[in-house]
Amino acid sequence: MKSFLHLWDNKPEEIESLLAEAKRLEREPLSDVLKGKVVGLLFMNPSLRTLASFQAGVAQLGGSSFVLQPGSNSWGLEFEDGAVMDGVAAEHVKEAIPVLAEYCDVLGVRCFAKGEDLSEDLVDGVMEKINVLSPRPVVNMESAADHPCQALADWKTLDDTGVPRNGKFVLSWAWHPKPLPYAVPQAALSMAAMRGMDVTVLCPPGFELPDAVMSRSWSLMDKPVRVSHNVDEAMEGAHVLYCKSWTAPSWYGNPEEEAKQRANLRNWCVSEDWFRTAEPSAKFMHCLPVRRNVKVKDEVLDGPRSVVVREAGNRLHVQKAVLSKLVEAASA
Ligand code: CP
Repeated sequence: MKSFLHLWDNKPEEIESLLAEAKRLEREPLSDVLKGKVVGLLFMNPSLRTLASFQAGVAQLGGSSFVLQPGSNSWGLEFEDGAVMDGVAAEHVKEAIPVLAEYCDVLGVRCFAKGEDLSEDLVDGVMEKINVLSPRPVVNMESAADHPCQALADWKTLDDTGVPRNGKFVLSWAWHPKPLPYAVPQAALSMAAMRGMDVTVLCPPGFELPDAVMSRSWSLMDKPVRVSHNVDEAMEGAHVLYCKSWTAPSWYGNPEEEAKQRANLRNWCVSEDWFRTAEPSAKFMHCLPVRRNVKVKDEVLDGPRSVVVREAGNRLHVQKAVLSKLVEAASA
C-alpha cells in the first residue's frame, strides 16, 4: 500500500487486515509504531472529526503531526499547470507538495469538490495530482469524489453493531440548504457494495446519483444497486439507513437552478416513521456533521438506532491502522 486514496484500490484481504488492526488498536490504543515519524495534515477545507482524530491517532502511535490550512495559516495554493499566478494563490502545488514531503513521512490531504464541473470533480484530479507529486504516502482525508477513511470507519461500525455482511443497506438522500458533493455517497455506496450488502439508493426523482458513481458500485458487487423513490419500498427489510444529501447531477455547477429542484423537498428529513417497514433493529448512520431537524429528526439521532458517534469514534481506530500499514510498507 503506497497511498490510501480509495477503499476500492484495496483487495478484500487488505481491508480485512486493516479492520482487524483497527479492532486491535481499539483494545490497545497506545504503541510506538510512529515513533520519530511526522504526519503532515493539509486541510483545504474545514473539519472537526478528521483533524482531531488524525492528530489524536498520531499522538497515540508515538508520532507527531503538523496542520496546514492553505489560505488561512499557510499560503493559498495553485493547482493549474501553466497558471499565471497573479491572483490570490502565492504557491504552486508543484513546489508545496515536494517541500512538505521533506518534513513528513505521510501526508494527509483534504480537498473538497469545486462543485462547478461534474466530470472534473468525479475524476478526483487534485488528489491524484498531489499523490503523483508526493514521494511520501498520501492519505485521502476527503476528496472531491471519495472519503475512504469514513468508509472504512463505517464498515467497522457495521461489523461492531452486528449488521450482517449480506444485510440490506439503504443510502438515502435528505434535504439540505446547499448542494453537496458525491464524496460521501460514493464512499458509502462502494463500501456497502464491497462488504457484500444488498444496496438500495433512495432519493426523489431527479436526484439519482451520477452514472459513474452507480457503475463503480455495480462493478464492486455481484448484484445490481436498486433505486427507489418510495420510502416504504426502499426501507422494507432494511438493516441500515445511511443518510446524506447530494446535488442533482443535471444541475451540477448551477446552484440557483438546483435550489429550485430542492425547494419542495424539505419533507425528505429522516424521522422514526421512515423505519416502519425496516428490520426492528435497523441502524441510522451519518458521517457528521449533520443538521438536526433538517436532514434527520432529533427522535432518530437521540434514539437507539443512531450509531453516528460510534462511526466518528471508529475514524480514530481505522486511521491509526491505515497510518501503521503505510509506515510499515514505506520502511519495508
Ligand atoms: N465526517 C467527517 O469527515 O467529519 P469532518 O468534516 O468534521 O472531518
